[in-house]
Amino acid sequence: MGRANRVVLAYSGGVDTSVCIPYLKNEFGVSEVITLAADLGQGEDLDAIRAKALTAGATESLVVQATEELVANYAVPAIQANALYENRYPLSTALARPLIAKLLVDAANEYGADAVAHGCTGKGNDQVRFDVSITALNPNLKVLAPAREWGMSRQEAIAYGENHGLTFAVKKSSPYSIDFNVLGRSIEAGPLENPWNEALEEVFAMTRAIADTPDEPEYVEIGFTAGVPTHLNGEAISTLTLIETLNTLAGNHGVGRVDMIENRLVGIKSREIYEAPALLVLVAAHRDLESLTLTADVTQYKRGVEDTYSRLVYNGLWYSPLKAALDGFIHQTQARVSGTVRVKLHKGNAQIVGRQSDTALYSEALATYGREDQFDHQSAEGFIYVWGLPTRIWSEQLRQG
Ligand code: ARG
Repeated sequence: MGRANRVVLAYSGGVDTSVCIPYLKNEFGVSEVITLAADLGQGEDLDAIRAKALTAGATESLVVQATEELVANYAVPAIQANALYENRYPLSTALARPLIAKLLVDAANEYGADAVAHGCTGKGNDQVRFDVSITALNPNLKVLAPAREWGMSRQEAIAYGENHGLTFAVKKSSPYSIDFNVLGRSIEAGPLENPWNEALEEVFAMTRAIADTPDEPEYVEIGFTAGVPTHLNGEAISTLTLIETLNTLAGNHGVGRVDMIENRLVGIKSREIYEAPALLVLVAAHRDLESLTLTADVTQYKRGVEDTYSRLVYNGLWYSPLKAALDGFIHQTQARVSGTVRVKLHKGNAQIVGRQSDTALYSEALATYGREDQFDHQSAEGFIYVWGLPTRIWSEQLRQG
């Protein structure tokens, strides 16, 4: 008896997940491996990936289109939460993991599998996100992570695969580990492991180097309806198309690169390069529109919620009760976050240069220093007396010695 009878394996077509197929069968005693590749807008040839899994010994090779679901159910809530892990990383990889976990669990339920598997190693965040999300969605499923146990180097993994009838395309293998979906790219390892090394241009695929960007700025107008991005330059557009278009527009101006040292959940600091042009612009634009449409106390309280939310998503707790509770709060704040934000893209910057909303709380009549001013200046004096009273009493007490 093996560790499981029928397994659904998260499959990317890469070396590790391909080797997982014979490894699960031979070392884990699994009788049937069903692979699942998710199309998340990464622009790969999924028919080729489907065929590859069958060649490697999969019983069934599933390809699931999930880009729209990634945007609607994972990216949009994150934009509403202005989610940036450690203030910088818009979670483009992290957001895809709970969705892939859901697809795996749905397939496992449909095919009567008793386990799901993934190709993550034991050092990263992704293993945590998969394991915890899968368990949250179906606590009866076993989770197998062969690459966490096998202790093979990449060369050894390739040799293992070849011994079991797999062939790998002979291309110069990249030193980088790259994860990619419509929300962005994450690049790590290789020369990037030395945090002093500047990332070479070769790591970037969605953004231009500043030297190659247009000399003229470009303006884009992003419209939100109740916190959902719905318009681009005045045209109604699906959020997915908006993200795809904005990736191109902003990336063309060199907007969307992040180079950071981040704290992984497993205790390691790692050097990460991200490209997420649309997501970064959308979070900045959304946050700006909130400053126009939310009250001061909601805006300020929400900052703390956003920070906790970002950590929960990063740390694999998408399906946790605290995350669900924060979703409730965030949803409640979004009803009147509607309007348009004008963004100027130029030489790596996405500057917010204008905003307007029918539900704005900003009042020009109150803000103006001109003649039309409606603010009651007389009231200020009494307000300041009461506001400063505790401090006045404290000060007087102190002086009495
Ligand atoms: N550090 C990022 C995160 O934890 C990116 C991980 C990239 N994953 C990968 N398999 N290359 O979300």
